[in-house]
Amino acid sequence: MIDLRSDTVTKPVQGMLQAMVNAEVGDDVFAEDPTVNAFQQRMADLFGMEAGLFVPSGTMGNQLCLNLLTGPGDEVITDELGHIFNYESAAAAHLSSVQLRPLKGSRGKLNSNLVEAAIRPENEWDPHTRVIALENSTNKGGGACYSRQELVELSNVALQYGLSLHLDGARIWNAMVRTGIEPSFFGSVADTLSVCFSKGLGAPSGSMILGNGELIRRARRIRKMWGGGMRQTGLLAAAAEYAYEHHFQLLGEDHRRAALLAEAVATNPALSVDKDSVETNILLFDVKSGGTEPFLNYMASYGVRMVSFGPDTIRATFHFQVDDEDLGKVITLVKEYTPDWNQPVQPG
Ligand SMILES: Cc1ncc(COP(=O)(O)O)c(C=O)c1O
Repeated sequence: MIDLRSDTVTKPVQGMLQAMVNAEVGDDVFAEDPTVNAFQQRMADLFGMEAGLFVPSGTMGNQLCLNLLTGPGDEVITDELGHIFNYESAAAAHLSSVQLRPLKGSRGKLNSNLVEAAIRPENEWDPHTRVIALENSTNKGGGACYSRQELVELSNVALQYGLSLHLDGARIWNAMVRTGIEPSFFGSVADTLSVCFSKGLGAPSGSMILGNGELIRRARRIRKMWGGGMRQTGLLAAAAEYAYEHHFQLLGEDHRRAALLAEAVATNPALSVDKDSVETNILLFDVKSGGTEPFLNYMASYGVRMVSFGPDTIRATFHFQVDDEDLGKVITLVKEYTPDWNQPVQPG
């Protein structure tokens, strides 16, 4: 099977499993896991932040950060395509009693004018605008990346209005590869940063939040309260560190393959794609008629999986466990697809 549903579907490689076996561990609720402690400091140094906290998932990372930066009744500005708005089970409302204010940006990205216009006045009835929450690279926005300039402008608005800036960097690694922006720059514009090792880097689980020492001290308590205090977590941190060390350098290949698939999609009159929109490992394209199901069934019948991302939109996401040979097969299938294809999916 060639699985392009997400970059979260990778399986741990042998070297990663070995790193887990070799990891020195301790009880991380007592902050005594040496592998976790060293990895948290390494990532904090990488992003130029004071401290880091290893957490089970990107969702917990984002939600911890929102909780740290807000109080009940506050408002968080985000893009309408943002992960925190669409795919985190309304956690911000439930866990932090905050309101998300989704704005219509471009491919999941906000800009400073849009944000500035959405900041609420100070009075008794408006919610307090407290946080600008960005995503980089974007997921539902099709892998788009912020430029340095865009981030500087957004950070300036945050500074001017006394807002905090949270950056959901689940795929910050892809953004780094695409834009060449150094990690410490992201740390310099964001108050809190959440990064994932379980997306294109290929760890089985694990994310990290980064911020100043005081925020991370508070985060430890909230993580415990939410059931995210884990014990011998060095096993997962070792996998995450292996993923960072060995798979970061492979991300550029994922980007190249996504762009090549876009070229193939563009040759099929039944499909449509904006080839220039492909910046990283995520490709979004449309089926011109009949919805996504016939196309997805056609691909699945040949052992290729993608996901529906809207009534007519398909997402294909590349990761290091899809190679050039797999890509060749996918390209051939995409070129040969016709809308009248309606065979049932073969079992198995
Ligand atoms: C942009 C973004 N943020 C956060 C998450 C949440 O990560 P997790 O699935 O580890 O909770 C995802 C998951 O795909 C994501 O794409």
